[in-house]
Amino acid sequence: MAQQPEHSDWWRDAAIYQVYPRSFADGSGDGTGDLAGVRSRLHYLAELGVQAVWFNPWYPSPMADGGYDVADYRDVDPAFGTLAEAEKLIAEGLELGIRTIVDIVPNHVSDAHPWFAAALAAAPGSPERDLFHFRPGRGESGELPPNDWRSEFGGCPWTRTVNADGSPGQWYLHLFAAQQPDLNWHHPQVRAEHESILRFWFDRGAAGVRIDSAGLLAKDPALPDFTPGREPHPYVDRDELHEIYRSWRRIADSYAEPRVLIGEIWVPDTERFARYLRPDELHTAFNFDFLARPWGAAELRASVDATLAAHAPVGAPATWVLCNHDVTRTATRYGRADTGFDFAAKAFGTPTDLPLGLRRARAAALLSLALPGSVYLYQGEELGLPEVEDLPLERLQDPMHLRSGGTDPGRDGCRVPLPWSGAEPPYGFAPPGVEPWLPQPADWAALTVEAQSGDPDSMLELYRAALRIRREAVGGGFGWLPADPGVLAFRRAGGFRCLVNLSAEPVALPADGAVLLASGPLTGGRLPVDTAVWLNGS
Ligand code: NOJ
Repeated sequence: MAQQPEHSDWWRDAAIYQVYPRSFADGSGDGTGDLAGVRSRLHYLAELGVQAVWFNPWYPSPMADGGYDVADYRDVDPAFGTLAEAEKLIAEGLELGIRTIVDIVPNHVSDAHPWFAAALAAAPGSPERDLFHFRPGRGESGELPPNDWRSEFGGCPWTRTVNADGSPGQWYLHLFAAQQPDLNWHHPQVRAEHESILRFWFDRGAAGVRIDSAGLLAKDPALPDFTPGREPHPYVDRDELHEIYRSWRRIADSYAEPRVLIGEIWVPDTERFARYLRPDELHTAFNFDFLARPWGAAELRASVDATLAAHAPVGAPATWVLCNHDVTRTATRYGRADTGFDFAAKAFGTPTDLPLGLRRARAAALLSLALPGSVYLYQGEELGLPEVEDLPLERLQDPMHLRSGGTDPGRDGCRVPLPWSGAEPPYGFAPPGVEPWLPQPADWAALTVEAQSGDPDSMLELYRAALRIRREAVGGGFGWLPADPGVLAFRRAGGFRCLVNLSAEPVALPADGAVLLASGPLTGGRLPVDTAVWLNGS
């Protein structure tokens, strides 16, 4: 079963599985997932058929933002394990043909990071404060924030400090939570530190890094008010970023097996997006356009076309993503009146038709796994897990929820610990009787890995089969085939075809070719609504 890492271009068409360590598997029995848990389940990932795993941050962190508030970039949080264990995990993964991608968080640090503690203790204008964005406030006595920006998590992105004598002091910038002060990327020490962090993980065998908030690092040094429509934006997608990523690429390329840089870049302009993927910058970036599109043939076809057109000139492979730890789970989202994704539209109590959502999620799985490029699966997607929308409010931890004054449900609902086995919580996630850090629904018994394994109709077996066929039978190339407007139909090299019916009526299947896999039952030579099929032969 072991698939040896074979080629250095592996990232061009890999299936990459995202592990949210806190919620994958708990080896220590404290209710929080950890590296011991991942190590004990590596065979599951190898059997699933993925080529790499991207781990959300595992560093020491006060967990004000699920680990995206990093206190030490060169260690592992004791709740997750040790650095030595991370090294073992990387090595054991490789033995099974699974490469490791670590999550690098360069835009901000935790307020518990020693640099920030030193900056708070130092005086205004000190070198320590220069590593961040400290500014005096506006207003008569500095009581107003230095500019009018908005935090990505809602509210004001500035927090006022308190001087040693107890008087109100300068403000510091945090595009996310107050516990995540932004670094000053115009400072050479910030750049040098992150280059050293990259080497640290590459030297330990990490095959690449996922770069958090990669489009936000550079700020206009004047930190001006935001003027809608004025370019460049004071902190999104600024040209200075490209030079930073070129220096990272030189480091990645200096390894015998070049390391891979994967950007988290939310830039809607596809041409601007593709600039990050020029041959001397990042290798790939998440395709959020595809992720956010509603379930509709015209919308998805337009996204595929725009994606392929943007990537072709820079020679970078596309990526296909349906969900991750930040967005509503696919099975839930596709069962709603609005099947697109938008952070601003998230609300409690949105009606959902789960069986419909699951049927579409199965079809979407076959669609995304058949497209040219690499594909990301978020843990639990292969089990068809729904978003958990009735978590007790007092258990919610996400700053997106907390900073919204309780109106935004936040992202905890897609971060609930995985169900592995058994009929009741913790479903094998943790030893029996242990309470997971977020409660699991009482009705997940049929969704466990154990319950789905061997059931040919399960989501898990659909993913297993699809990943195997993708490796064995899906060639390069790509071309649309003639089809009804509500049907997506395309071919890849080797006679492989994928058809997805997003119309309101069943459609006739082509007379030629054998069915390799279908996301639902095919009856009478027809492809039912919200169903996808893979065919071979032309
Ligand atoms: C993007 C990450 O995916 C998200 O989880 C996090 O909250 C923000 N960046 C801030 O680090």
